[in-house]
Amino acid sequence: MKIARLPLARLTTIGVGGEAEVWTVETLADLKAATQAPYRVLGNGSNLLVSDAGVPERVIRLAGEFAWWNPNLSGWIGAGALLPSLLQASARLGLSGLEGLYGIPAQVGGAVKMNAGTRFGEMADALELVELYHDGRLEQYRPEELGFSYRHSELPQGSVVTRVKLRLTPAGVEAVRAKIALVDAARKGQPKKKSAGCAFKNPPGEAAGRLIDAHGLKGLTVGRAMISHEHGNFLVNLGGATAAEMYTLIRKVQALLPLEVEWEIWGEIAPLAEVSR
Ligand code: FAD
Ligand code: EPU
Repeated sequence: MKIARLPLARLTTIGVGGEAEVWTVETLADLKAATQAPYRVLGNGSNLLVSDAGVPERVIRLAGEFAWWNPNLSGWIGAGALLPSLLQASARLGLSGLEGLYGIPAQVGGAVKMNAGTRFGEMADALELVELYHDGRLEQYRPEELGFSYRHSELPQGSVVTRVKLRLTPAGVEAVRAKIALVDAARKGQPKKKSAGCAFKNPPGEAAGRLIDAHGLKGLTVGRAMISHEHGNFLVNLGGATAAEMYTLIRKVQALLPLEVEWEIWGEIAPLAEVSR
């Protein structure tokens, strides 16, 4: 186990966030020790906006046995495994089930918690079993017991996803690659700049990005935070953005549109004075 104070800006895809005590756990004994005081679980940091002041809780990262997986994708897969690596393996093996998750830069645990997905499929669809650590013990759940819906799960309070078994079916390399190509094409309009994916959930029957675009908000900038010109639902870090700048941009959008934030916000972030008035 490693314990270090680290800037979370380095551990999040949007590149924003102050320091926290990061506990990198490799075994169940490590996880037990790490969860003896208030904690948060960090996946690949791809759906997080972390306060510039960091967070006071321990931040747990999964490594070692929690990131292990068999290259043939059979058996248990550690929650610290990266989805893009699993996608690559499933394409090589011709196993179908993960294609809808192509392009999502998540760890398995974060994808389970957020029920990450696209209109081609969600994490919940690809799960056979989920192992959770909570209240001092490991327990197995079927996906239907975990309350999955659009970008949402109802894991028991304080749960750490430790491992999953996937539901994959042999479909052949060509078929899997063809489906991945469809998903890839649907993502072509998304920006490459640093972000945490879509900032807002889509309202039923609508697309937040389309609404933001229709309101002429693309290109709106606060400091180094900007609404992408490429896709209205991506708020990007132009380099050196602060959490306060990012959050101010969110509030500017919400002042005009009743959109629910999809990002998870860690710690206290106050908008800059220009929108709090
Ligand atoms: P984090 O962002 O680190 O954490 C998210 C939440 O999961 C937090 O509550 C955290 O505590 C919890 N968590 C993480 N690991 C565990 C664990 N092991 N046990 C318990 N809780 C855990 N999302 C989509 O749904 N669809 C997309 O198409 C998509 N595209 C994206 C594209 C880009 C370029 C980026 C940057 C992001 C995109 N996202 C997308 C958002 C993001 O990838 C997902 O929300 C993803 O599920 C977050 O996973 P993560 O491992 O990064 O989790
Ligand atoms: N649109 C605009 N202007 C924009 C952006 C989009 O008019 O600036 C229009 C598009 O032309 C299209 C509609 O809005 O008609 C939907 O856009 P898109 O196909 O890009 O999909 P989305 O609904 O914006 C969703 C997910 C993405 C996922 C893609 C691909 C949400 C909030 N977003 O985006 O997930 O990658 O579909 O399937 O559900 C995420 O959750 O972080 C995420 C990136």
